[in-house]
Amino acid sequence: KSAILLAYFALPWAFATPQHAIDSPHWKPAGPNDFRGPCPMMNTLANHGYLPHDGKGLTKEVVTNALKSGLNFNTSLGNLMFEMAIVVNPEPNATFFTLDQLNRHNVLEHDASLSRSDAYFGNNHVFNQTIFDESRAYWTAPILDAKMLANSKIARQVSSRASNPNYTFTTKTEAFSVGEVSAPIIVFGDMDTGVVNRSLVEYFFENERLPTELGWTKKADPISLDKITQMSQLITNATSLLTGSVDIKALKVRDLHSGFI
Ligand code: HEM
Ligand code: MG
Repeated sequence: KSAILLAYFALPWAFATPQHAIDSPHWKPAGPNDFRGPCPMMNTLANHGYLPHDGKGLTKEVVTNALKSGLNFNTSLGNLMFEMAIVVNPEPNATFFTLDQLNRHNVLEHDASLSRSDAYFGNNHVFNQTIFDESRAYWTAPILDAKMLANSKIARQVSSRASNPNYTFTTKTEAFSVGEVSAPIIVFGDMDTGVVNRSLVEYFFENERLPTELGWTKKADPISLDKITQMSQLITNATSLLTGSVDIKALKVRDLHSGFI
């Protein structure tokens, strides 16, 4: 009798709530037939079941819902991110993409990643501890700031440009890269002060798992495009290798002088 009662309550619940919509810490790494890609967060959302665990059939609705239920990204930001991503599916008028399509080199995936090797050296999408250690070397305190994150980005670019004859990094790449480097502050950190706990970021990259067991919870306020722009500006400012504020006019005068002397 109690089994019937249980079924009565459990069944409608199971049907009404798809696995990937449950706001729960359920996490399972990818199996051999699951697609994964170069984005530690998309992989994480799939590992948790916010995105389909197989990494396939990522429609606008699926992606937007995952970003909302997993990270509290607002709907318009989710839609925008999907629109930016859909180009990875080579089919004309595609309505979905898959996580492995994100691997296509120089479409969205690019050189000098913080945690992946350049395509020139082999695998451009699996987490690479050696590369990540190169980035982490610049994370010199338990609380990361924009400068430490920017330093790891610059260092990876120098390392890649020095060793990879195919090194490619366009202005479009720069915009994406800056967004990626600011992402940890947006999702795991404090956007008002522009800092993030190093342990949360390392746990996320190394496990492709939300750092719930370290006390992290998604932001209470929905994350909007404004915040992304604000954090990207913070990282862009921090990537300048000049000290003080940069006066473009003064720079030109100095260049002229050095040209003549
Ligand atoms: C990297 C796609 C959302 C964090 C990447 C890369 C792609 C990508 C293609 C590889 C770039 C490279 O070569 O390094 C996407 C798509 C998203 C999405 C299509 C949603 C529609 C997010 C979100 C976060 C995030 C919400 C928030 C934490 C990152 C980080 C990297 C990255 C930190 C850099 C990884 C590295 O440098 O090793 N993403 N992403 N992404 N993404 Fe995402
Ligand atoms: Mg890459």
